[in-house]
Amino acid sequence: MHRVLVIGASGQIGSELVDALVDAHGAANVVAGDLRAAATPSAVQFVTLDTLDAARLREVVAQHRIDHVYQLAALLSAVGEAAPLQTWTLNVNALLNVLELAREGRVARVFWPSSIAAFGPRSQRDDTPQATVMDPGTMYGVTKVAGERLCEYYFRRFGVDVRSVRYPGVLGSRTPPGGGTTDYAIEMFQAAKRGEPYRCFLGPDTRLPMIGMPDVLRATLELMEADAAQLGVHASYNLAASSFTPAELHAAIRRFAPGFEVTYAPDFRQAIADSWPRTIDDGEARSDWGWRPQFDFEGLVAHMWEAIPRDWPLPGSGS
Ligand code: SER
Repeated sequence: MHRVLVIGASGQIGSELVDALVDAHGAANVVAGDLRAAATPSAVQFVTLDTLDAARLREVVAQHRIDHVYQLAALLSAVGEAAPLQTWTLNVNALLNVLELAREGRVARVFWPSSIAAFGPRSQRDDTPQATVMDPGTMYGVTKVAGERLCEYYFRRFGVDVRSVRYPGVLGSRTPPGGGTTDYAIEMFQAAKRGEPYRCFLGPDTRLPMIGMPDVLRATLELMEADAAQLGVHASYNLAASSFTPAELHAAIRRFAPGFEVTYAPDFRQAIADSWPRTIDDGEARSDWGWRPQFDFEGLVAHMWEAIPRDWPLPGSGS
C-alpha cells in the first residue's frame, strides 16, 4: 500500500492508470494531478497541478504524504514538432522536478515513461535491442533520451529509485490520445466504430510496435512493485506486445466492420514512423521482472473493438 500521485492524470494513460492504482492501493491513497480534471471523473481526489511549478509540486507531495509519483505529463511526437522548445521544457523539466523531490528524500519511488521514439534511424529497427544506437529525430525522442539519461544519472549518483519502460504506441479507450504518430491506430477504430471511412496519415505497410492499455497498466504496476534488487536497467526497459501495420489493422477491423474502408495519405508523420523500430526485443523486462504481454494482435483488436466508445470525437474535430 502506497500513497501515490499521478501527474498527467487527465491524459490518455493517466486517466486509466488512476483507476488501476485505486484497485491496487485504494481510492483514499491515490491523488490525481493535472492542469485540468479529466472529463470522466474518477473517485479519487483531484489536485490542480502544473508540474513545472516545483514549489506547488513539493506542496502537493507534502500535503498528501505521497511516496510514489507517476510523472506522465508530456507532449507527444507529432504535436511536439509544432512546439519543440515547449516540448523540451515540459518533458525534461517536469521529470527533473520529480527527480529532485526523490533526491531530497521527499518521495521514495518514481515512474516515468520513455518511448520507442527514443530510437532513431541508425537504431536497429527489427528486434531492437535494449542497448543500441539512439539517435531520435524528433524533439519528443530527444527528450526521451535525455530523460533516460537523467533517470540513470539520478540512480547512480544519488540512489534515486526511478523506474521506466519504453512504451510502444498505446491503444486506450478512455481518453483520446493527443498528437502521437502511433495514434492512427486509435483513429482507425474510432472511424470504423462510427461507420465512417478513414484516411490514414501513415502508409499501409508501416509496421510499428503497439500495446493495449490493459498491458500498459499491468507493466507499469508490476515494474513499480518489483524488488529493486531484480532491476538491472536504470534508464528504461524495452517493452513489447505486438507489432502491426495499418493494412493489417484494417483487415482485422473488417472482421467486425466488413464494409470499413481505409485510404492512405502519408504526411510528415511517415518520416517519424520510418525512423522508429518495427519490432522490439524486450528480453530484459521479461527476465528481470517477469514481463509478459497478455494481448496478442487479435486479442488487442477484439478488446479495442469492444472498448472504444461509438461517440468519441472524430480526429481533428477539436472537441
Ligand atoms: N505514441 C507516441 C507517439 O506516437 C510514441 O511514444 O508520439
